[in-house]
Amino acid sequence: MRPPHIHTDNTSLPSKKQNMPITLPDLQDWTFNVDFEGIAWAVIDRKGESMNALGRRATEELGEIVKAVEDAPAGEIKGLVLMSGKESSFIAGADIREFQDFDTEDKIKDVVTQTLELIDHIDKLPVPVVAAIHGYCLGGGLELALACDWRIADREEGTRLGFPEVKLGIFPGLNGTVRALQVAGPVDAMTAMLTGKMLRPTAAKAMGFVDQLVPTRHNLRWAARKAVLQKRRSKGAPWWKKLMLKQPVRGMLAKQMRAKTAAKVREEHYPAPFRLIDLFERYGDDPVRMKRAETEMFTPLMVSETSRNLRRVFRLSEMLKDAAPKDGFKPRKVHVIGAGTMGGDIAAWCVVSGMQASLQDLDQDQIKKALGRAKKLFKRRLRGKTAVDSALARLIADPEGKQIKHADVVIEAIVEKLDVKQKLFAELEKKARPGAVLATNTSSLKLEDIAKPLEDSGRLVGLHFFNPVAQLPLVEVVSGERTREEEIGKACRFVTAINKLPLIVKSCPGFLVNRVLAPYMMEAVRLYQEGQPREKIDQAALKFGMPMGPMELMDMVGLDICNKVGEELDLAPKSDGKADNVLATLVKQGKLGKKTGEGFYVWVDGKPKRDEAQYDDAELERLGRELIEPLLDEAERALADHVVEDADHVDAGVIFGTGFAPFRGGPLHYRQSEKNAQAEKAAA
Ligand code: NAI
Repeated sequence: MRPPHIHTDNTSLPSKKQNMPITLPDLQDWTFNVDFEGIAWAVIDRKGESMNALGRRATEELGEIVKAVEDAPAGEIKGLVLMSGKESSFIAGADIREFQDFDTEDKIKDVVTQTLELIDHIDKLPVPVVAAIHGYCLGGGLELALACDWRIADREEGTRLGFPEVKLGIFPGLNGTVRALQVAGPVDAMTAMLTGKMLRPTAAKAMGFVDQLVPTRHNLRWAARKAVLQKRRSKGAPWWKKLMLKQPVRGMLAKQMRAKTAAKVREEHYPAPFRLIDLFERYGDDPVRMKRAETEMFTPLMVSETSRNLRRVFRLSEMLKDAAPKDGFKPRKVHVIGAGTMGGDIAAWCVVSGMQASLQDLDQDQIKKALGRAKKLFKRRLRGKTAVDSALARLIADPEGKQIKHADVVIEAIVEKLDVKQKLFAELEKKARPGAVLATNTSSLKLEDIAKPLEDSGRLVGLHFFNPVAQLPLVEVVSGERTREEEIGKACRFVTAINKLPLIVKSCPGFLVNRVLAPYMMEAVRLYQEGQPREKIDQAALKFGMPMGPMELMDMVGLDICNKVGEELDLAPKSDGKADNVLATLVKQGKLGKKTGEGFYVWVDGKPKRDEAQYDDAELERLGRELIEPLLDEAERALADHVVEDADHVDAGVIFGTGFAPFRGGPLHYRQSEKNAQAEKAAA
């Protein structure tokens, strides 16, 4: 740590007792000053970054600040306030980009130990330390805040606190596990760390992560000043919560947590939450030993393949967001034509994301049904009656398309028939305002064909959403042969504005996601046709790490749609001359899956009825790998055909569009890792 710089000129505010104000002029990520009341203000505002993260430099500079406070003459500094100069973040966590350098356990231990020393210094400072929180306070940012004596957060919409570490295959490693238990007790602290949920300020206050709330960010400074002058210190969790840290309650809680976590993820795929429960169960009532054990158990997770792959997934999502130009087009109004399965849900999703959406259909009944579904979504997603009412007001039934001329984005989601779509777009081009995006949600027609009747055919883009719209984060932005770059940019801006991830794809059959998913589904049909039980096929896929088995997935999507996609891509298993393939047969029998109550499974109360057979683990592993092979092959072919920009975009599209086992880092990355492992084995 560098020593604090002691100024001898009088350019900063002098303290009452001395003429040597304490300043740290060389800081880049922080600013530091001591005001006339003796309150030290440390404000983090990382240069050139939109968010604050605890990177190496920010941490070193915080070290200098803490040393300056420690070394100040007695009484000179009354307290330290940590806050942020950014619009949207206090500190959003550690700097994930720097994690790349930490490839051995020793390197990680070194960095963690140094940072822990710093955080312990903050914890033990003799003067009150206050964290004044606005925006995201996540991961390492929250761990730092928990080491402060008093935490104040504003109630603004963008303020969120949480421990997202499990999503990256680790758990809090800066003694946040210990401090969270001390301030919030085991149930709330462990739930926050095991789920990675972002908490609103009121929830964080109710749990004990925050001591005080103020209405807006403008109230933070005043509240922090008062907290310092009144020497406020958090009392921590109440006695009855701390009692739950003792045995036998702790053991019982750990057992429940393990069961709940196992119902969501497999330990073999996602070990971090299970290790966190072990840590809690062993040391939950002994902070000193728990701190040491936290580092010991954190480090192997950090170097694990799982965590590396999950960090890769995070980087891939950032990469997709970066495709959107940073400024220019600002979409606010969307008009959707076709209020069926897709159109209705697309309009509702746009409204949830804050936009105004108008919905058009030939059939009024369809609009009515879509509005009913939208209301349910709003109630699930938005908080409070005012927010739901305002969303309902922003969703406009517009059977005659009166809103088209006001829309920034017009999305077509009508029947999959070329002539009908062509006719619609020819009319739309005349009605839409200049500069508005014209988009189709087609999944199988050629963009170039749909665009034919347009005077300006370079204007048409594809916006291929996935079903169910609210659940899948990806939207394929389809670029036809003539589509202009500018329109693609605007479409990507729109996709990020509705909080989805845009993937630019070439106009070709199946685009990327369906092209890669279809051979995998058809492989499942083939295995089923050969006599493998449907439950076994689904279990094998889950064992590999897919979010849902392919038989269940096909039933959900609709067997008619799957069969059509299989035929279009020429993948459907061939009939044997005597009988159709099993998929075609089920479709002929009207067994279309969940929507008709029967497909591969019989569906009761929205759930498939399964036989409860148990299969051998090794056999499931082998079958899972066999099932996934065609998907990997097709991902390679899609890359060779330049359907997307590069291998990372293939991986990103397949992960975010199909849920492909995130801990494996994407199909191409997975295949490469397999090859590397084989080469290493051969060399050994
Ligand atoms: P759908 O059959 O549920 O809805 C289509 C709606 O369009 C109906 O309400 C119909 O009344 C209306 N419509 C038909 N012609 C119209 C016109 N000229 N003007 C106004 N409304 C008209 O269809 P779905 O499944 O929502 O598909 C719509 C589009 O989205 C298709 O192009 C499809 O390929 C595509 N898509 C479908 C997915 C799915 O899983 N269903 C997934 C991704 C894309």
